[in-house]
Amino acid sequence: MERVLGVSVYVVEGGRTLSGEVRLQGSKNSALPILAATLLCRGECVLHNCPRLSDVEASLAILRYIGCTARREGSTVIVDTGSVTRFDIPTELMHRMRSSIIFLGAMIARFDRVRMSFPGGCELGPRPIDLHLSALREMGIEICEDHGELDCYIRDELHGARISLPIPSVGATENIMIAAATARGTTVISNAAREPEIVDLADFLNACGAKIHGAGESTVVIDGTERLSPAVHAMIPDRIVAATLMSAAAVTGSTIHFTGIIPSHLESVFPVFRDSGCEIDIDGKGVSISAPYRLTSPKLIRTMPYPGFPTDAQAPVMSMAAVADGMTVFVENMFLSRYSHVSELCRFGANIRVEGKVAVVDGVRQLLSANVRAYDLRGAAALVVAALCAKGRSEISGIEYLERGYEDMELVLSALGADIKKI
Ligand code: EPZ
Repeated sequence: MERVLGVSVYVVEGGRTLSGEVRLQGSKNSALPILAATLLCRGECVLHNCPRLSDVEASLAILRYIGCTARREGSTVIVDTGSVTRFDIPTELMHRMRSSIIFLGAMIARFDRVRMSFPGGCELGPRPIDLHLSALREMGIEICEDHGELDCYIRDELHGARISLPIPSVGATENIMIAAATARGTTVISNAAREPEIVDLADFLNACGAKIHGAGESTVVIDGTERLSPAVHAMIPDRIVAATLMSAAAVTGSTIHFTGIIPSHLESVFPVFRDSGCEIDIDGKGVSISAPYRLTSPKLIRTMPYPGFPTDAQAPVMSMAAVADGMTVFVENMFLSRYSHVSELCRFGANIRVEGKVAVVDGVRQLLSANVRAYDLRGAAALVVAALCAKGRSEISGIEYLERGYEDMELVLSALGADIKKI
């Protein structure tokens, strides 16, 4: 089923000040690996704070195709992996989301045999999976790559290994942790990714009976256990949605209070907003951001692996830099092409030049309404932020990209006073 792009459109009347309180949705990048990891258990896992997103729906479709049952009750998803019947994932389901590679570790640990197609590239450029494959091969998995198809089986047994990652890849770290949880022996991951979503996955797996130590640090140790049992788990809040809504507050001169937020997950993001003149107050219940009348540019933003500035926040924060007084230099170190939003921001009147992985933003006083198109998830978020501050009526197409990672964005923004409609 080829998705028809551009069918969902937002219409935004910009220039309004926002106010009020937001309870953050659960983290997309926690939900996806944890849903895959439920395959290690046999029985019913209960996952709270699981956001309603198209990427989550795609993961549930894969679990149902394999033979699991999955149902949603509000923000809780219940997955029963007791009876599974298939060990292949059809291309159509694999292509619905790039991160479906995260099912590889879980399925090989459950079935000893997996067939799936390469997740292929995505809007951010090529999405190689060489680190996933080389690590799983070191754990005793035979992987045949053939015309975009992966055919994997366990040679004699799934066993632990000492794995050193050249790049602290989030997905590779997750696939290894999941495959290692029930492998024979111990696995040590060096230069592991340290994202909060890695810790959340380890917390879920440990609740199921796994023995994972050091998640969140650069060295993670997993002592394989015979079998995992189902668990109840609540996802952490989505720190990238928080950064996005903070940008929306900043560009509209607003004050917004966030609840259900974990401030420590945003320690590399808060300074960017403070440097731009925003006040960030952390109180017992959450975090408040108050924007100044005129933003000043944050000067330099380099995306780095956690705990550095997150690449996923680069696009939404660029919309803030576009109307901040002064020049901001962005250096996108994580992905080859993550500037698809730049040409569209320039249609709003932003002054941005891109040279390779560097984007130079010269802040302007005012953005003007425009009709623009989204080409990837976080780029779509950047366009929504820009439209909120651009005077007049803007239309944004390609909103289906946004719905991969933002739950009911138009409802959340309308509740804060924005004039935004989905047509
Ligand atoms: C995760 O993607 C996130 N997705 C991404 O969020 C996020 O941008 C990224 O981590 C970086 O933080 C999910 O968690 C579902 P990586 P992932 O492996 O795991 C290269 C969003 O907007 N690499 O850490 O795919 C890769 O090309 C999404 O929510 C290899 O070379 O990211 C990239 O340059 C977008 N070989 C770098 O490592 C590999 O085998 C980091 O990628 C794997 C990765």
